[in-house]
Amino acid sequence: MPLAQLWRRKSLDELLAETHEEGHQLKKVLGPWNLIALGIGAIIGAGIFGTIGTAAAGDPSRPGAGPGLMMSFVLTAIVCGFSALCYAEFASMVPVAGSAYTYSYATLGELVAWIIGWDLLIEYAIGNVAVAISWANYFNTWLGLLGIHLPRWLTVDYQTAFTRMPEVIASAPHIFGVPVIFNILAVGIVTLITIVLVWGVRESASFNFWMVAIKLVVLAFFVFVSVKYVRTEHWHPFAPNGFRGVLTGASSVFFAYIGFDAVSTTAEEAKNPKRDMPIGIIGSLIICTVIYIAIAAVFTGMIPYPALVKTLSTEQAEPLTLAMKYAVMPNWMVGIVALGSVIAHTAVLLVFQLGQPRIFFAMSRDGLLWPFFSRVHPRFKTPHIGTIVTGVFVGGAALFSSLEDAVDFTNIGTLFAFFLVCIGITVLRYKEPNRERPFRVPGGAWLIPILGGISCLVLASQLPHRSWWRFGIWLVIGLILYFFYGFAHSRMRHPAVAGIPPDFNPEQQLPQSDVEK
Ligand code: ALA
Repeated sequence: MPLAQLWRRKSLDELLAETHEEGHQLKKVLGPWNLIALGIGAIIGAGIFGTIGTAAAGDPSRPGAGPGLMMSFVLTAIVCGFSALCYAEFASMVPVAGSAYTYSYATLGELVAWIIGWDLLIEYAIGNVAVAISWANYFNTWLGLLGIHLPRWLTVDYQTAFTRMPEVIASAPHIFGVPVIFNILAVGIVTLITIVLVWGVRESASFNFWMVAIKLVVLAFFVFVSVKYVRTEHWHPFAPNGFRGVLTGASSVFFAYIGFDAVSTTAEEAKNPKRDMPIGIIGSLIICTVIYIAIAAVFTGMIPYPALVKTLSTEQAEPLTLAMKYAVMPNWMVGIVALGSVIAHTAVLLVFQLGQPRIFFAMSRDGLLWPFFSRVHPRFKTPHIGTIVTGVFVGGAALFSSLEDAVDFTNIGTLFAFFLVCIGITVLRYKEPNRERPFRVPGGAWLIPILGGISCLVLASQLPHRSWWRFGIWLVIGLILYFFYGFAHSRMRHPAVAGIPPDFNPEQQLPQSDVEK
């Protein structure tokens, strides 16, 4: 096989020409504040509600950050800042409403595009497994406050039950000696969202506005009502496991920042991308970092590090309400945080579950995945098959996975995609120096991309070994799939094989969304 074929690129000029076609031009309406709001909407979600417990307490495979969690958030924000600037240059160079997959196909070639597309599957689908599990934890807490108690074997996963909850194993029903344990709430919400998405919903600016408002209000409420339960002595020692704990904490809370890349994809719609892109990206990162540090400070000030470690070693708990219960705060306050969190989680689930089938769609349209992924439902006009496949995959994994495993896997996959994007910027500055770049990473071709790439690798290196193994296996499966299917069916090389009419334009058939990456 001629190696050069792996690096063949889609024509950038063709892609750009499409954006200038009548009826396909996006309006340049977004100013810096719109971009900041968009970023906050995409960033704040399950991460802050679900991952900070493990990040602070650690687990058998990693030391916890303790109150140093505040520092972890700063470190991760810096790493994300580097990558976000690179994303912005990429997006402004290929200003097509699309994903990192599309950009890389046009600039770095088919093989890298495939790897990034395969990687985005982790960011979206496995990310949503984590969100669904965290949703289920908070929903279960809320049900408990209403006096509804589900059996424990229906609210946890196998791994958590086996490693931390022997009593759940003992109380679960057994079939042929095997305990029946699964997270029914997580699979329930994924099923519901899948049905809604097959039917067809559109994201809208007002939906984003309300979701941002609810998230900010519930987090502000948590800080406001909890601050008087903070005991500053709980912040000592600040980093019980030294810098290593702070760094592993940073690699866990990376999840809480995923989504900022969505801002960069709107480069084509920004009024003044050169000025507003960095403002939108860095602005939303700074605002979220300040919010996250405030939450981390209150959280670690309410519950002492040793108590957190002890509780999480025997429970699968949702951190914010856990801390509130520890401080014996009134039930109605816990209820508000639990319910607000459930709503915030639902929004993230919707956005990610909507995004994944669109990535399948783009890959299938290019012939790298089977044609059924780019079929559109005749009545609902939604990519129903991709949506259902995503739902089955996410729901199935959420039945049995632990939150920590799903978060770690999402983080490693997403960090790797960011790494490729960062390196791609340097490569392209040399390969295509004359290409117009409405936004350029400051500091030249090397500084930020290299800092971005290295810092992504440093964070990834702090994730448990098992996530590296899983990621390696995932990549190998992806490459096998590419060489057995995508390589032979790639529409760029074999226009007729993919079975899609050349003039077919999916953008006309799918609802527009600002969540693609
Ligand atoms: N950053 C997103 C969240 O925390 C993925 O839910």
